[in-house]
Amino acid sequence: LNDTYTLSNGVKIPVIGFGTWQAPDGDVAYQSVRSALDNGYRHIDTAAIYGNEVSVGRAIADSGIARHELFITTKLWNDAHDYDSARQAFQTSLDRLGLDYVDLYLIHWPNPKHLRQNNQWEIGNAEAWRAMEDIYQAGKARAIGVSNFQISDLKSLEKHQSIAPMVNQNFLNPSDQQSELVQYNQQHNILNEAYSPLGTGKLLSNPVIENISQKYNKSVAQILIRWSLDKGFLPLPKSTHADYIKANTDVFDFSLSADDIQQLDNLSGSAGLHLDASQADF
Ligand code: A2P
Repeated sequence: LNDTYTLSNGVKIPVIGFGTWQAPDGDVAYQSVRSALDNGYRHIDTAAIYGNEVSVGRAIADSGIARHELFITTKLWNDAHDYDSARQAFQTSLDRLGLDYVDLYLIHWPNPKHLRQNNQWEIGNAEAWRAMEDIYQAGKARAIGVSNFQISDLKSLEKHQSIAPMVNQNFLNPSDQQSELVQYNQQHNILNEAYSPLGTGKLLSNPVIENISQKYNKSVAQILIRWSLDKGFLPLPKSTHADYIKANTDVFDFSLSADDIQQLDNLSGSAGLHLDASQADF
């Protein structure tokens, strides 16, 4: 759990992060982050739009864990894709979290709905990225990156960037493998982070994975998290239950055989989950 990947700028990042998407603000987010930290997670992934930064921040503070032992990620929302708004949104996130820096700051989506006409999204990303580069240079974010960026979005950003993104966080699980994107990221030394590694829960009753899980005496969730690690991804499993939160870290005493990885790879498309960002209503 405390193994790390090393980002292109040398910063180390714990190989599993605790996801907080859909963890409602207040008690649920607070307790689940407390539980994650108590169970050894040191990497927490949140976002301005999740609405739970205040609870996440309180849980971090109350944990008593030294700040430098933690890796905290948050994300810039779609309403702030210009330089000044992005700087301001970042400061708001810091204030909500009660932190004076984050470990990783990501552009949450490449193409906000209100910027889809006339390539405005491209200018939006360039502007947001310029703000992120300045935040990074100022030491307020130890690393910067993007989320939900397709290859074309990365290529468009390349025309403007001075600093390359260190991370691209995407919806990645056996049903949705985005292989070309994953390979592009790897070739560009951009770490693939996997949100919804359990397919938002929809892969948990898949019979093929159930079959594999019995063989290793592990749960389906553990098999899915292990698959993500074996692919070189950084999985961000989410749960609000203490027993699941703990179980999702118990994946370091086995690895999947090539054959079983192949069986999981063959599940591509099986849960029909892909979210097409160009159609998303935000
Ligand atoms: P809950 O939040 O009620 O604990 P993903 O990380 O792919 O988005 O999946 C999250 C979903 O999977 C949530 O519904 C979560 O339930 C559920 N989940 C997380 N870990 C486990 C586990 N170990 N066993 C069963 N379900 C799990």
